[in-house]
Amino acid sequence: SVSKQCTMYRLNVGGMTISPQGDSMFYRSWENDSPYIYGSAFGVTFSKNSNVTITYPSTMPNYIAPADVYGTARSMGPIAQINLHYNLTWILPVDAGFYYLLRFHFCEIQYPITKVNQRSFFIYINNQTVQEQMDVIVWSGGIGITTYTDYVIVTVGSGQMDLWVALHPDLSSGPEYYDAILNGLEVFKLQDIGKKSLAGLNPPLPPQPKSDVNPKGVSGGGKSKGAVPASIRGAMGSTATMLIACFSVCIICRLKKVAKHSFMTDKKCMTYRTEFYHSPSNLCRNFTFDEIQVATRNFDESLLLGRGGFGDVYRGEIDNNGENVAIKRSNPLSVQGVHEFQTEIELLSKLRYCHLVSLIGYCKEKNEMILVYEYMAQGTLREHLYNSNKPSLPWKQRLKICIGAARGLHYLHMGANQTIIHRDVKTANILLDDKWVAKVSDFGLSKANPDIDSTHVSTVVKGTFGYLDPEYYRRKQLTQKSDVYSFGVVLFEILCARPAVNIELPEEQASLRDWALSCQKKGMLGKIIDPHLHGEISPPCLRMFADCAKQCVADRSIDRPLMSDVLWSLEAALKLQENAENNKKFSEATTSSKRTPDLITIMGTDKPSTYSTMSITGQKIIFSDMMHPQGR
Ligand SMILES: *[C@@H]1O[C@H](CO)[C@@H](O)[C@H](O)[C@H]1NC(C)=O
Ligand SMILES: *[C@@H]1O[C@H](CO)[C@@H](O)[C@H](O)[C@H]1NC(C)=O
Ligand SMILES: *[C@@H]1O[C@H](CO)[C@@H](O)[C@H](O)[C@H]1NC(C)=O
Ligand SMILES: *[C@@H]1O[C@H](CO)[C@@H](O)[C@H](O)[C@H]1NC(C)=O
Ligand SMILES: *[C@@H]1O[C@H](CO)[C@@H](O)[C@H](O)[C@H]1NC(C)=O
Repeated sequence: SVSKQCTMYRLNVGGMTISPQGDSMFYRSWENDSPYIYGSAFGVTFSKNSNVTITYPSTMPNYIAPADVYGTARSMGPIAQINLHYNLTWILPVDAGFYYLLRFHFCEIQYPITKVNQRSFFIYINNQTVQEQMDVIVWSGGIGITTYTDYVIVTVGSGQMDLWVALHPDLSSGPEYYDAILNGLEVFKLQDIGKKSLAGLNPPLPPQPKSDVNPKGVSGGGKSKGAVPASIRGAMGSTATMLIACFSVCIICRLKKVAKHSFMTDKKCMTYRTEFYHSPSNLCRNFTFDEIQVATRNFDESLLLGRGGFGDVYRGEIDNNGENVAIKRSNPLSVQGVHEFQTEIELLSKLRYCHLVSLIGYCKEKNEMILVYEYMAQGTLREHLYNSNKPSLPWKQRLKICIGAARGLHYLHMGANQTIIHRDVKTANILLDDKWVAKVSDFGLSKANPDIDSTHVSTVVKGTFGYLDPEYYRRKQLTQKSDVYSFGVVLFEILCARPAVNIELPEEQASLRDWALSCQKKGMLGKIIDPHLHGEISPPCLRMFADCAKQCVADRSIDRPLMSDVLWSLEAALKLQENAENNKKFSEATTSSKRTPDLITIMGTDKPSTYSTMSITGQKIIFSDMMHPQGR
């Protein structure tokens, strides 16, 4: 049965009712939550400090909920002893016999809560723990940043039942405040679970989400199947006393919360430009909607890889051949959708290159716009750099990824017949396959330049804040150098493992590009390098890499290198690194006093005890004892 989504509740917790006009994007109405509070324990409501700005992370579309919903909240109250003795509880009557999705919206909006482990709490649904150690700052990344989490529950039986949603402080991590917070709550009725008798006590559960896709490393991600019998037992015991006419069972499972859109790869790499163009008909398959439905088990939530403004990306299997593909289903509400869909098909179907994500096919039926890509097992480069619990990538691997992505862009720029400008180069659009080969993806914004001689295309400014070429922004002229600029930001992102823009940081640090340049100017780039890389980068390699990044983000496009030059620099940087690692000279150099100032690298300061300082030609240098551990 096709899932027909219908909203049961949409609560602006701790805030006023928002009329459909107040929800500028989607004309939804959000109700005040107080009528649903259980008992007399109302907690306290509050709204954001005036100096807090509600921000949506780039992985989360801002239509998820209006800023007014995030701008108000309800917490348990200021007195820890009281909070420890009650649950802040909402009771929401629903129909039994359906799947429901509960979406909790969170955002810390008041000082002094800005840090991890200041507020940590449990979320209970129908007396079952669905989340332990819920720490909004961990999930969102800072005060004012929005986040949400979804849980799917199944209610078995018939008639009405109550959904209990409760919050209680979780002291297991020793938080500073014994309190809980909620900003918004939505309950969607998903599909009917079907006419099942009690044999339906085990409705099909989505497969257990892989723990490595839980971006924040929050424990309790994915209540496992093992937890289900307990849920059934618990819910059966309590509901039996309440509901006489109906029998309800609840099974709760946490949805994958993935900030990931992964695509594909096992096409052969074609190395020569003359082979790049093929007729679309023999490479790009026209799928029927039925085939897509089969491939994704009717867009099963458990196959969801990622979610964004463009729509949803699912993992799927075509023709049951065991080969994974990534299926991108455009959001029908996305205005730009149709145009970008066509652009992407037109461009991608003609492009086959081992450093570009290949388009396998598409489906345009029943108002659906679906693209089928090769599956990229390791997801986005971004998720391997920060805001995730994935192991940090070694420097050489990062260099190889940079080189792969640079090749992909170089190919686009130099492609056989026409220059293609990507326009949205960022770490989230560089995907990694199972062998860690980098591929450039997301050509939705790409512009093909039909005239190879013209050096720019004038166009409406599109792209991602933080990566946008200032010249393009000022002059609305798009050139290949705009991609070079964005790629320079990517290089700094890879080196420093932080987002291109982080408005939570002091003003001078917010833009990675500006901050990196100013540190570089003062000879202090080493201070902002990813601490995981300390001691790993050979100084000449770092110098080559950082110079390259600096040139890429030059203010004037004329001062920026071409992608071919960038590629050359990166390959040289890799050579320098390999040389340093191969011959022990590198480790000797780091301890030798014969260092010349132009090789100076300042490694990080997070572990001061392992660094010694000395002064050469008036500059302060910090040497790392860990520069080359295997050399000693
Ligand atoms: C924001 O305002 C609150 C009081 O409204 C104050 O406590 C806090 O220090 C301010 N924070 C900043 C960063 O200005
Ligand atoms: C949850 O527990 C309370 C009391 O502890 C009980 O009254 C209520 O019925 C339970 N709710 C559900 C849905 O099991
Ligand atoms: C809060 O709810 C949970 C789950 O229903 C229950 O185990 C716990 O005893 C409740 N705590 C209080 C103080 O009511
Ligand atoms: C793709 O297939 C659908 C039906 O299966 C058909 O209506 C459509 O015209 C086809 N598109 C192309 C470009 O062949
Ligand atoms: C170049 O493009 C033109 C028209 O777009 C096309 O006719 C021609 O076959 C293309 N050449 C190559 C080598 O792809």
